[in-house]
Amino acid sequence: MSNSGVPRRVSRRSAIGTGLACVSSIGVLSGCQDTAATSLEQPAETVPRDARLRDLAARRGLKLGTAVQSRYLARQDNYVPVLTRDFDLLVPEYEAQWKIIDSRPGSGRYDNVGRILDFAEANDMAVRGHAPYWHGLQPDWLNATLASSPERAERLLSDRIAGIAGRYRGRVRSWDVLNEVIEPDDGRSDGLRRTAFLTAMGPGYIDLAFRAARAADPAARLVLNEYRTEWAWPQGRKRRDALLRLLEGLLSRGVPVDAVGVQGHLAPALDGYLNAGALGEFCREVAGMGLTLSVTELDARDTGLRGSRAERDQSVADAYARFLDVMLAQPALDAVLTWGFSDRYSWFTKFFPRADGQRVRGTLYDVDYVKKRSWFAVANALAGG
Ligand code: G3I
Repeated sequence: MSNSGVPRRVSRRSAIGTGLACVSSIGVLSGCQDTAATSLEQPAETVPRDARLRDLAARRGLKLGTAVQSRYLARQDNYVPVLTRDFDLLVPEYEAQWKIIDSRPGSGRYDNVGRILDFAEANDMAVRGHAPYWHGLQPDWLNATLASSPERAERLLSDRIAGIAGRYRGRVRSWDVLNEVIEPDDGRSDGLRRTAFLTAMGPGYIDLAFRAARAADPAARLVLNEYRTEWAWPQGRKRRDALLRLLEGLLSRGVPVDAVGVQGHLAPALDGYLNAGALGEFCREVAGMGLTLSVTELDARDTGLRGSRAERDQSVADAYARFLDVMLAQPALDAVLTWGFSDRYSWFTKFFPRADGQRVRGTLYDVDYVKKRSWFAVANALAGG
């Protein structure tokens, strides 16, 4: 155990899921550029070199998705071939966010989201929607409008949700209706984040958002998406507790929430990045309420990790394996989505750069679309028990 309660030992199943598989199972270094660590045992469960992640997931009844940006869909590199090979579920990484759609009130810039939907449908892929309201990308004009006219809050929120969910009614499998509404550090006893709408309307904005989404697209699965639910630190526990209390309240009031999204942005350089036991218990409690679970934004950054590239890749792969070990054991799980799939286009480059200036290697493929240990970790986790 680490000093934060995180198990540091890699279980047999996790070890199977990690980098050595790309040497021993595949016979050649098809996806791994580095010499594999020699301390890991020969894996018993392996995937064929031409396996597709989406097929491995489908055998477990899961969708395998990833976040995309519309401009990448037009690239002439390997982006599209890899995307369509491994994934059957897309989510716009940021282009459906309110700030992007309505940078000015009512500007309605839906063209890029439309491109993603069209691409998905042309390639027989499903779509998730992300996110009608997220404090992180709310339009600049919103705070001023709410401050001058708080009574407009309900109308603004319900119009935004009706606008986007209604526009794509029947085409979106699930919506992250609200994203990251919990923030224990904001100091409220209920653990809710002090968003602009919480300030204007109180906690009832959450009820309103889900009811508006149900009315706009009755068939879509409505998701409350949250981050750091896997953390070992007290903030992780507080976040899980607050989220469970929020869900109990919503369900007791008949609010139509269907699922919880566990984002899964993993940071293996940090000692408390994952409390597997607590995450599993949290998931079981969510499922016990009759709700579905999705992994919505999985990645694992090597920011802050030292050692050779091979060692860092191994730590990243282990993080994927440890996390999936918990999540794939949940019968209520319906999908796993990674947050991008190539280091060429990852939010880590901008938001969590490495101090040594090397590119962050947090996704499944490197910048040249070569499979890394993390790809094999995910493939073996999906293929395993
Ligand atoms: O605003 C401009 C836009 O007008 C222009 O078309 C575009 C062209 O590049 O740039 C836009 O800026 C974008 C920005 O979001 C909006 O402010 C950036 O490119 C874009 O990369 C950026 O970052 C996104 C970030 O959320 C915003 O905070 C990331 O791509 C996205 O990966 C990240 O995603 C979040 C999830 O939504 C929620 N969970 C955490 C996750 C990581 O922060």
